[in-house]
Amino acid sequence: MIPITVAIINQKGGVGKTTTTVNLATAMAAIGKKVLVIDLDPQGNATTGFGMAKGNGLDSSYGILLGLSDTASVIRKTYVNGLFLIPSTIDLSAAEVELFSLPDRDSKLKKSIANLEFEYIFIDCPPGFGFININALNASKKIIIPLQCEFYALEGLAQLFNTIQGVRNTINKSLIVAGILLTMYDRRNSLSAIVANDVRSHFKNLVFKTIIPRNVKISEASSHGKPVILHDIKSQGAISYIELAREFLNRELQHEQ
Ligand SMILES: Nc1ncnc2c1ncn2[C@@H]1O[C@H](COP(=O)(O)OP(=O)(O)OP(=O)(O)O)[C@@H](O)[C@H]1O
Ligand SMILES: [Mg+2]
Repeated sequence: MIPITVAIINQKGGVGKTTTTVNLATAMAAIGKKVLVIDLDPQGNATTGFGMAKGNGLDSSYGILLGLSDTASVIRKTYVNGLFLIPSTIDLSAAEVELFSLPDRDSKLKKSIANLEFEYIFIDCPPGFGFININALNASKKIIIPLQCEFYALEGLAQLFNTIQGVRNTINKSLIVAGILLTMYDRRNSLSAIVANDVRSHFKNLVFKTIIPRNVKISEASSHGKPVILHDIKSQGAISYIELAREFLNRELQHEQ
């Protein structure tokens, strides 16, 4: 089994990266896939989003990012069946500087997660464009880009696509954008519809048909350390992330053809 590794990335903060990682991974596990989440953000929101304690020092994603820990030993089981986690730690905030001086600073994570027995690995990326994110892009086969439906949504996207192209030209030729995901869509706010139309007219089929609405159950769930699917399966948030998992899997079939 060769895992399909997916980086959830956008250098912009607060656009729904972590929420998408936690809930898409949970929906995939609910469909029966064996899934690993790697929390690469020093903020550790994906870790606490599963109600898990952050890691200590090397017993975390920091240890594998620097190639100092045995990967199997840092993987934890979550209470979601089939879903495992490599937790974040605050030490990750030093990793940018520590990676800088290493000759293989772009490929540490890729080496650490080669040959793991999972069907899918989802990486929750921190905001910004540092070596942590270059490692995530190098280690991944696919990317999902969450985009918040707000006025400045498209700002910075050109820079993100430039970075992705740079990675393709150098270290990871086969990197694919699986899709752009519209998040926090508010149907009472006409701006959301305007932004969604704008993004679709620019990026066409690259944009997932599934839209994640702004839904209080989603933020409520994360404050309880739970994916929304386990918090309130009937909520619009849960329904949308299950729908996203289906669409993601359908796109997988198209990529294989
Ligand atoms: N669809 C949604 N409906 C309501 N609240 C949401 C939704 N998606 C995300 N949020 C809330 O918005 C905030 C930012 O989301 P999230 O943490 O997923 O973004 P992020 O891109 O990971 O941020 P960062 O760049 O800081 O890592 C969180 O408080 C989250 O609970
Ligand atoms: Mg986050």
